Amino acid sequence: MPESFFILSKNNLEIAKDEVIAIAKTYDRFAKAKSFSNLIIIQSKINWEQIARRATFVKTSGQILRKMSGLFIGEENFEVLKNAKTFACRIVNLSSKHFDIPELESSMGDMVSKLSRAQVNLENPEIIIYLIFTNQENFFGFSRPEEFAKRPKKVRKHPHELDWRLARVMINLIGLKEGETLCDPFCGTGTTLMEAESMGIRAIGLDFDKKMYEISKENLKVNGFKSKIIKADFSEFVKMKDKFDGIVTDLPYGTASKVSENPQELVKKFVGMLPRRKKIAIMCKKGFEKKLKMNPSKTYEIYRHKTLTRTILIK
Ligand SMILES: C[S@@+](CC[C@H](N)C(=O)[O-])C[C@H]1O[C@@H](n2cnc3c(N)ncnc32)[C@H](O)[C@@H]1O
Repeated sequence: MPESFFILSKNNLEIAKDEVIAIAKTYDRFAKAKSFSNLIIIQSKINWEQIARRATFVKTSGQILRKMSGLFIGEENFEVLKNAKTFACRIVNLSSKHFDIPELESSMGDMVSKLSRAQVNLENPEIIIYLIFTNQENFFGFSRPEEFAKRPKKVRKHPHELDWRLARVMINLIGLKEGETLCDPFCGTGTTLMEAESMGIRAIGLDFDKKMYEISKENLKVNGFKSKIIKADFSEFVKMKDKFDGIVTDLPYGTASKVSENPQELVKKFVGMLPRRKKIAIMCKKGFEKKLKMNPSKTYEIYRHKTLTRTILIK
């Protein structure tokens, strides 16, 4: 079974690992994972690019060709360079040993040049050869420079808007697939709707505030997105429950945005209305979740500033 590697940003490491695993399992429920520090190895039938394209916190990714016991690399390992004109070598040291990385990368480059017809090109290589060292295992792999789709444009912003990374990670954690539909009953400026559509997921948004409704509409329109936005109280989502597969939302905090009632009461009321058997990811102010009858499968704490830590609840 092919193995892929993902080197993650060290901020939000727990959620970053869970996201990669969740994406892999969305497409292959038998996918397996193991991790070493900020490296995660996924064994699955799906290609690494399919995971990397969706994942929020992946810095580098590629395919593992084999595990290594020493530093020796034979000719047979460079099959991957057969049709490539250019390559670069990268060493990732996650072990506690010290290596002279520039020196090692350069001698590896010399060795590969002798064993293949490809030439070193550090600026714009077709293939990047990776040696990854950890305290437990070492890996030899390759990658191609990533060409990911452009980020959606946000022409109208608002102080309460959700960081797009958190919107994206929440969508991925609940495993929504292309062609499925997400509902955000507190859509504000439309961040979750835009992230969903950028991954081929349809979206329905609600917001009771006319200004927010208009901002969302405009943000979607400039990107050519087709999500449906309704100016209505969140409770209207119950009537649409056959039209969506999951809910991803960031609940009001009672600070920067308008709110129809006491935010803590609103969260309780909202959770009481959640449909069974739907995928759910909600974010609320830390502490609000304590009295909820939700039984999340996982929670994450996201620090924003001294007076605001948020909780993400996944079900
Ligand atoms: C924290 S903001 C959501 C921010 C949004 N995720 C974004 O990125 O812009 C909460 C939103 O809930 C909306 N809201 C508050 N009470 C509501 C209600 N009863 N029904 C629907 N929307 C409501 C507010 O207008 C606000 O836009």
